[in-house]
Amino acid sequence: YNIVFVTAEAAPYSKTGGLGDVCGSLPVALAARGHRVMVVSPRYFNGTAADENFTLAKDLGCCMKICCFGGEQEIAFFHEYREGVDWVFVDHPSYHRPGNPYGDINGAFGDNQFRYTLLCYAACEAPLVLPLGGFTYGEKCIFLVNDWHAGLVPVLLASKYRPHGVYKDARSILVIHNLSHQGVEPAATYKNLGLPSEWYGALEWVFPTWARTHALDTGEAVNVLKGAIVTADRLLTVSKGYSWEITTVEGGYGLHEILSSRKSVLNGITNGIDITEWNPSSDEHIASHYSIDDLSGKVQCKIALQKELGLPIRPDCPLIGFIGRLDYQKGIDLIRLAAPEILADDIQFVMLGSGDPQFESWMRDTEATYKDKYRGWVGFNVPISHRITAGCDILLMPSRFEPCGLNQLYAMRYGTIPVVHATGGLRWKTSIHLLEKAVVKVQGGPFCHYQKKAC
Ligand code: GLC
Repeated sequence: YNIVFVTAEAAPYSKTGGLGDVCGSLPVALAARGHRVMVVSPRYFNGTAADENFTLAKDLGCCMKICCFGGEQEIAFFHEYREGVDWVFVDHPSYHRPGNPYGDINGAFGDNQFRYTLLCYAACEAPLVLPLGGFTYGEKCIFLVNDWHAGLVPVLLASKYRPHGVYKDARSILVIHNLSHQGVEPAATYKNLGLPSEWYGALEWVFPTWARTHALDTGEAVNVLKGAIVTADRLLTVSKGYSWEITTVEGGYGLHEILSSRKSVLNGITNGIDITEWNPSSDEHIASHYSIDDLSGKVQCKIALQKELGLPIRPDCPLIGFIGRLDYQKGIDLIRLAAPEILADDIQFVMLGSGDPQFESWMRDTEATYKDKYRGWVGFNVPISHRITAGCDILLMPSRFEPCGLNQLYAMRYGTIPVVHATGGLRWKTSIHLLEKAVVKVQGGPFCHYQKKAC
């Protein structure tokens, strides 16, 4: 089988979070194992510096007309062959606007259903029509469909291709990185998707209400992710813990029943990390190299980080770090609540991230109040994220839910103790086991004990 990833983001071309990281590195790892791998993603070409990422991708001169949203939409394909992977970019004017893949300062784009419908149609056609390296991928493909943006792919296979004898042997795997985004739009938008009308809402006689292909349980909305859950051959989440959580009322975001009904094909596989990029013994971004056998370089990293941030240089003072989006999922409000208490202790604290403007200004204010203890870096910066991971003693990650989480995995590789909620990938038993070991090493406890025995 050839493998076709369908994703709204893939690093280094586009990235807002872990989805981009995984879809940028897993295809390369699979190709290295001898698979033929294609990644299909939008060509976000929007007149910013990020356009540079796409400069090596060449126009294949292959245009396609897609019938949806009441007309014919013309898309084009761009292609770059890199690290054994065919990176295929779908080009359409709706991908050429400023902002991140999903929105701008005014919030989410209003036409995301349209933009990702185009992606899914294009991804279904790409293996059939693109002569990459002289040969098309053909019908014998496994589609790895990531999150709701790619969710129409299995629906299209089931409702349009297979009934016509195409992709009979193809398989689709829905990978759920975050169940809280489902691609929900009013029922009236169904007609725009170009799918057979009998696939919406009218399937009571075949399936029970909760299993109707697109309808939410209320039957009042189009839910693309639900359609994918019903039609994909397999369902995967990015950790074992999360694959269980999404079958519960608390973690299922309204889809727990349907997910429970598909338990026999639902699995969790914890994301891997790129161990070349995240390696304390060769990391180009950090002040001193170290390894699990010789941790002495870690304190140099801590001193260098304190220097860079303008904090008092105190190797004996516990340094806490946070790296992540500033939003509710990440428990940023909990940090804000606990901050006065945390900062009353003899510790230092550095945060890196952007997101909700109210938390961005809170970080700035906190820095002004606690000049000798706190630094809040608003934005995202790869070298700094490496230096925080290496230089801190503790990584604070109080996510309310975390399908996998990558920063805690990076932290463990850098000898930095993750302090987390037991949720999703953070509750994975190996990480809990390592965490327990780490706590024992610093003499039995959280901050107060930790202070007594410096890193
Ligand atoms: C999403 C999840 C995160 C996961 C990442 C990659 O961003 O929120 O927990 O690590 O996807 O799978």
